[in-house]
Amino acid sequence: MTLAALALCFAWPQTTTPSRVLLSWSDDPATTATVSWRTDAATAESVGQIALASPDPRLGKDAQSVVAASQTVELDTGSKASYHRVTFTGLKPETLYAYRVGEQNEWSEWFQFKTAAQGFKPFQFVYFGDAQNNLKSMWSRAIRQAHRDAPYAAFMLHAGDLVDKPDSDKEWGEWFYAGGWLHAQIPVVATPGNHEYGRGPEGRALTRMWRPQFSYPKNGLPGLEDTVYSIDFQGVRIVSLNSNERQEEQAPWLEKTLSTNPQLWTIVTFHHPVYSTAVGRDNPLIRRVWQPILQKHKVDLVLQGHDHTYGRKNVPTGANVRDPKSGTVYVVSVSGPKMYRISPEALKEMTRVGEYTQLYQVIKVDRSKLRFEARTTSGELYDGFELTKGRDGSNTLREINPEVPARLEPTPATGRKDD
Ligand SMILES: [Fe+2]
Repeated sequence: MTLAALALCFAWPQTTTPSRVLLSWSDDPATTATVSWRTDAATAESVGQIALASPDPRLGKDAQSVVAASQTVELDTGSKASYHRVTFTGLKPETLYAYRVGEQNEWSEWFQFKTAAQGFKPFQFVYFGDAQNNLKSMWSRAIRQAHRDAPYAAFMLHAGDLVDKPDSDKEWGEWFYAGGWLHAQIPVVATPGNHEYGRGPEGRALTRMWRPQFSYPKNGLPGLEDTVYSIDFQGVRIVSLNSNERQEEQAPWLEKTLSTNPQLWTIVTFHHPVYSTAVGRDNPLIRRVWQPILQKHKVDLVLQGHDHTYGRKNVPTGANVRDPKSGTVYVVSVSGPKMYRISPEALKEMTRVGEYTQLYQVIKVDRSKLRFEARTTSGELYDGFELTKGRDGSNTLREINPEVPARLEPTPATGRKDD
């Protein structure tokens, strides 16, 4: 092991006490919950325990234990760690639970979470664009301010590029450090970006760090497990597409998923935007193979990243094709500190844009209304709109018009990528 690798192990140690605990869903959010965590490699076996939450500190005596599925992962530092996972099943809907992970005397704290309601119930969630860089020093304030603004968020959604170097144990360590216990109590819904892709044994591939950490329903395409999936949560179908590979093959799956969707609202997330906001970037393949399906099925919101700017645009559909206040809303946002310039085209075509601004979004879902708020890391409302759903499934969009002027650099970008 090199000295540099040794220093990294010291900074982000693998310990017998569980760390990097992450709550997500690999099945029905009303009756199941999935947890992943890691320990040192010597701890080959670990356990999850769950009980009904109670103010009585003896809550653990009736806890149910589930032995974790465990695997050894070779880290980029040269050392190894054990990654563990359990799925708690048979839970009661809309019920507060407490869980912990570990073994013998090496337990995590008890974390609490509430299972989803069966069927529709209003809720809110948080959406982040790319975190990617300076996760500990700069992204931490985005997730922490988001939590202050939406403490009862039902989940936190990450639209790719959570880190910069896909296999970097240091960067994943910083991502977990920034969110801390929030990752263990508020389910994480994530889709991979290009920075979650690196060199595998057979060419470009999803980082080996993804699946040990993120587990989602296996209802997507074979081979794209944990990156292409859908989750139904309290009246909303949340769909994750993988914009990094096999995009054309995902189109029929998307068509099927949206045409059999009984939920009131539909939110789709993927990394590479349908409408790029940054200078010199375009994703015509995404526009060609996915956008007609998103429009046809009147997807309400498309949450994207990649362009390190803020941009929002709605595209009318169907009978309302001439109504500029309707249709699918496409958003690009950024939560970390890496910033690009807004392209001259996006400046003209987008309803609201922003540069050099770290943001998070709070989205409130009601039966016939959806409210979207983009907020800066100072907690200030930067952009907002409300969708009202009509009987035919079409939306009417009302601008919230925050008083804050557009945050743009003093000189517009010239159209060169290196602006
Ligand atoms: Fe990206």
